[in-house]
Amino acid sequence: MARRKNALVIGIANESSISAAIAKELYENGYNIIPTYLNERALAHVKKVTDQLGVETLFPFQAGDEKQLQDITDYLNENDIKIDVFVHGIAFASEIKKNLHEVSWTSFKEAVKVSAFSMVEITRKLIEEDVLNPDSSILTISYRGSQVAVEGYNMMGPVKNILEALVRGLASELGGKGIRVNAVSPGPVMTRAASGINGFSSLIEAVKKTSPIGRTASLEDIGRMSYEMIHNPSINGTVYLVDCGESVVFSVK
Ligand SMILES: NC(=O)c1ccc[n+]([C@@H]2O[C@H](COP(=O)([O-])OP(=O)(O)OC[C@H]3O[C@@H](n4cnc5c(N)ncnc54)[C@H](O)[C@@H]3O)[C@@H](O)[C@H]2O)c1
Repeated sequence: MARRKNALVIGIANESSISAAIAKELYENGYNIIPTYLNERALAHVKKVTDQLGVETLFPFQAGDEKQLQDITDYLNENDIKIDVFVHGIAFASEIKKNLHEVSWTSFKEAVKVSAFSMVEITRKLIEEDVLNPDSSILTISYRGSQVAVEGYNMMGPVKNILEALVRGLASELGGKGIRVNAVSPGPVMTRAASGINGFSSLIEAVKKTSPIGRTASLEDIGRMSYEMIHNPSINGTVYLVDCGESVVFSVK
């Protein structure tokens, strides 16, 4: 298949990553995937995913590393590649196991930088270097802990709230350039990042019990809805829940 569109996907750690599911859906629909990896230790795990997506070139990327970001945009410019989709699927919080009121400013600041503001920094660079196609789409990944205080989610709730506000702000500013910005907000999925959250297995079980249909969203569900959000021109500046209805129920069981 001739791959006509390009997706920059930042956030694949391994086969369980939500970004991997989104990249897979994009690949199956004809996209050329341009992925990044966190560091050399992560590379083999990322390659297990990207080898199945016909990827030959991967880029190291740590949030805030301007040189690495420059290398990505240099590659795009040198190869005359324009990005149609930017998937921002990264998050980090060093003090995620602490209660919110015990978290240091240093850790909170770093979490905002990696998990939220990096979307702005990368977007700005893509625009400055003129490597975003008109009608391009940016998708990040949020969680409902932005709206309610989910036990164990601690400092990431406020960080996701900031991320969602950035989605609205960017969507408002970039619409004139033909760029849409959204966040998909899935229910809990056991991933590498999620495994660092206290009580995450119990959260999954509780959500299954609360959900009217007795299940959580699968990676495939999330990949498919992400694809729709990326492509449907009427969806812009939104945070869309992919949670099997869990959030509309107040359970007394
Ligand atoms: N797993 C869930 O239940 C769930 C639910 C809702 C939202 N999310 C969000 O989905 C996104 C993806 O997480 P995931 O659950 O797929 O886990 P994951 O561990 O597969 O992905 C997290 C990614 O963040 C990257 N990352 C961490 N620190 C980084 C840094 N400093 N610079 C660059 N990259 C960095 C990691 O390398 C990894 O690829 C996150 O934003 C997460 O908050 C997850």
